[in-house]
Amino acid sequence: MKLKIPDNILSLKPYKPGKPLEELEREYGIKAPIKLASNENPLGPSPKAVEAMQAVLGNLHRYPDGSGYHLVNKLAGKLGVAPEQIVLGNGSDDVIGMLARVYLEAGDEAIMTSPSFLMYEIFVRTVDAVPVMVPLKDLSVDLDAMVAAVSEKTKMIFITNPNNPTGSHITTADFKVFMEKIPLPVVVVLDEAYVEFACDPECLNGLNEIAGDRPLAVLRTFSKAYGLAGIRIGYGVMPAEMAAMLNRVRQPFNTNILAQAGATAALDDEEFLKETRQLIHSELEFMQNELKEMDVDYFSTQANFFLIDVKQNAGDVFEKMLRQGVIVRSMVSYGYPEYIRITVGTRVENVRFLEALETVLK
Ligand SMILES: Cc1ncc(COP(=O)(O)O)c(C=O)c1O
Repeated sequence: MKLKIPDNILSLKPYKPGKPLEELEREYGIKAPIKLASNENPLGPSPKAVEAMQAVLGNLHRYPDGSGYHLVNKLAGKLGVAPEQIVLGNGSDDVIGMLARVYLEAGDEAIMTSPSFLMYEIFVRTVDAVPVMVPLKDLSVDLDAMVAAVSEKTKMIFITNPNNPTGSHITTADFKVFMEKIPLPVVVVLDEAYVEFACDPECLNGLNEIAGDRPLAVLRTFSKAYGLAGIRIGYGVMPAEMAAMLNRVRQPFNTNILAQAGATAALDDEEFLKETRQLIHSELEFMQNELKEMDVDYFSTQANFFLIDVKQNAGDVFEKMLRQGVIVRSMVSYGYPEYIRITVGTRVENVRFLEALETVLK
């Protein structure tokens, strides 16, 4: 085909998700592999969400409520914001895409850390804007360097807190200082996909920073702590004026009937959220103690994943772990050739991971 493809699209590299379990079973003939690569919830979906989704199966011939009325109102009540400040997305990815389409034009700059969640760059390049990468400092977001990177062309800044893939976090105090230095026309996007796992009381909660018409968008997701990655639902909270602009470019039925019902019910499932947090925190402690015993270096985290320094090529370790039936994330393409990222699983999964790692690193 001789179709002209714009250079910005040609420059995109497709997002590489963690290997699906079925693929590992097919390709490697491994029975019952485990996946600790995509920061999913090891407990499965919230049971209340599952029940609510089962209850709407008979309505699937209908279009969903395009405004997501029930979910938006429940979220607004829980979060203490106006319904007009919430934009639902087909995953929080979808909200990132809307922000880029609304606020970025060709040639504008969007600052992000290097490495960072790969979808920021993909959406920025899609609208022919320019990603400006600011390296992490000691695996953490370097807010001063991000301020220093702001130019006349800067229109957006992405910050992930807790950060993916490193698990580091920024404090409320540091964020306040940072925001004071950011010129007004710049939209700050604070991606809090993992914020439910944070336990440091100093860790920033972006919702407290949304004030008046300051251009700040806070992104949250049901994919992680609520265990609903498969139905794709997330949201952004921002000043109502911004939300109204995003709704102009939002697909009318971007969140489906199952997702709306599941997410609405999951918000009531406090018990599940508590259980999830407890499991992650106690298993994190277990894994890190075991790694210490094994003399393997790892990094502290405020998320449901953490980095391990395998002190050899992480791509090779990834492959060898696959053969043991354990899917992890190699950090080679993120610029850390000797680190892997591991999602905290159930005790059974974590023990299998530790055994496989011990075998591989021997
Ligand atoms: C930092 C970060 N932001 C956003 C997302 C996307 O979440 P969602 O499933 O809501 O699209 C992820 C998923 O891995 C993530 O790590």
